[in-house]
Amino acid sequence: MGLGCLKRNKTMDSAALFKIQYGLFLISTRENERDNACIGNVLAQVSSSPLRVALSSSKRNYTCEIIERTGRFNASTLTVEAPFSFYERFGFQSGRDVDKFAGLDVVRAANGLVYEPRFANAYLSCKVVESLDLGSHRLFVAEIEDAKVLSDVESATYEYYRSEVKPKPAASAKGVKGWRCSVCGYVHKGAELNIHSNLAQENLVRILLFLIRIAKTKLKKMSN
Ligand SMILES: Cc1cc2nc3c(=O)[nH]c(=O)nc-3n(C[C@H](O)[C@H](O)[C@H](O)COP(=O)(O)O)c2cc1C
Repeated sequence: MGLGCLKRNKTMDSAALFKIQYGLFLISTRENERDNACIGNVLAQVSSSPLRVALSSSKRNYTCEIIERTGRFNASTLTVEAPFSFYERFGFQSGRDVDKFAGLDVVRAANGLVYEPRFANAYLSCKVVESLDLGSHRLFVAEIEDAKVLSDVESATYEYYRSEVKPKPAASAKGVKGWRCSVCGYVHKGAELNIHSNLAQENLVRILLFLIRIAKTKLKKMSN
């Protein structure tokens, strides 16, 4: 969750918001026999009787749209073992553009929605009972219909993700700006790790190759 266009008074220290602790979750959904999931960090148990959680989701996310329409989601509690590639797959691209589960073996809970078996230590199956428009985000209050513990590996926190998983700007004696992967040490040179622009470039190359293929077929037909 970002700070957005926070209206600050002169004495407000917005860094205080970074002191709030969050967990990390894979929020999975299913609509018309298609699975999708995204990373979320704003989920908490908010009542015990009835047993309810609240989930805040950006209205821009496809996940948010699907939950609004279907009223169902699973929340898998991510562990410290989830690598950055897992966050890239589910948190840096939208299910509107790609099938995030392509090439993965999926495991389903009793409600038919997938849960994360490798990098989560538990999951909750949730049914939305209230939904509130918060502006940039939508708040879903949901009843927990089913829950299961998968392992006793430590849960990841948002702070852990920021300090241990997310690539850091590389410390460089020569002043080269870049990002270092905390797992493999790979340094991406450049001011920003811009995965969205890399995806846009890949799509552009695909379109160009497609156009070249059409042109070649037309030329072949003309020469025959
Ligand atoms: C560490 C991390 C935490 C995130 N937390 C949230 C969150 O709390 N709420 C949210 O709406 N999006 C959050 N996101 C962003 C979504 O996962 C991301 O926008 C995703 O691409 C949405 O996919 P979708 O369009 O398929 O739903 C987070 C992403 C990361 C990497």
